[in-house]
Amino acid sequence: MKEKIQALRTQIEQLKAANQEELESLRIKYLSKKGEITELFSEFRNVPNEQKREIGQLLNELKTMAQEKINALRDSFVQSNAAKEETDLSRTADPVALGTRHPLSLVREEIIDIFSRIGFTVAEGPEVDDDWHVFGALNFPPEHPARDMQDTFFVEKNPDVMLRTHTSSVQSRVMTTQKPPIRVLCPGRVYRNEAISARAHCFFHQVEGLYVDKNVSFADLKQALLYFAREMFGTETQIRLRPSYFPFTEPSAEMDISCNLCGGKGCSFCKHTGWVEILGCGMVDPNVLEACGIDSHVYTGYAFGMGIERITNLKYQINDLRLFSENDVRFLREFEHA
Ligand code: PHE
Repeated sequence: MKEKIQALRTQIEQLKAANQEELESLRIKYLSKKGEITELFSEFRNVPNEQKREIGQLLNELKTMAQEKINALRDSFVQSNAAKEETDLSRTADPVALGTRHPLSLVREEIIDIFSRIGFTVAEGPEVDDDWHVFGALNFPPEHPARDMQDTFFVEKNPDVMLRTHTSSVQSRVMTTQKPPIRVLCPGRVYRNEAISARAHCFFHQVEGLYVDKNVSFADLKQALLYFAREMFGTETQIRLRPSYFPFTEPSAEMDISCNLCGGKGCSFCKHTGWVEILGCGMVDPNVLEACGIDSHVYTGYAFGMGIERITNLKYQINDLRLFSENDVRFLREFEHA
């Protein structure tokens, strides 16, 4: 009997319960009507009289001890539940560290936003394109230097498959698949085989605009670009158009804006001219319209193209192009509130 009591004591001392159910089955095992301790009590009558006093005491101690153990385990459950309830569910969550928009994305979105207000929608095309879309349809003669390996990246040395050198390739795509009126904006990445420096990179971004309809004039182009320049760089901004040449526009022009740093007075940024160049533009060459299946006797159009890096440099005075693709978070964070 004594040994049994001792064995139960050590067992009970080490009891553990993972949850209320386990605890309850332990209680049943030891303390219920058929429990092991209760069983011992019924055997008590067989204990010889001279031992009854001692064994009786041990039995009572065992029972109290078992009850205490079970109570203690129960208390620990109640406590850990209470700890859970103390979690404040109304507390604001830990802040999530958000990234920032890339400056080129910010400026691209702003350009799109400005032109969408005068009816332009976005059109996209592939970065790997064929000679016809990049050059052929756009009136580039076969011997044009842009078609040279020096300027253009060809894919697998196939002269017909290349990385587009300008987003004007989307222009040819849209004109062959849609009927006028066409009013699209083509943003995208372009590639040119240039040595990487602060002022040139082998890839950069452009936004091309194209408007083809009846009676589209150079005055319409100028008005749209003036509107753009003022929305982008401020209402005081002046523009000027200088004659230029592109194979796909006739007449062609380059547009300058009054230097947005000195307001046109002349500073080192604008090389003391008061003007900075921002884009190329012109009336779509009739050859291009015809090549894309649009009747050049019925329709006219204008096109313009700008480098997103260039606009971003002007807007935020960034003077090293490489910063845009180095992914230095310290640089990117500066545009957090832009
Ligand atoms: N595609 C020309 C370039 O890459 C820009 C341009 C577009 C000029 C449309 C005129 C009209 O430089």
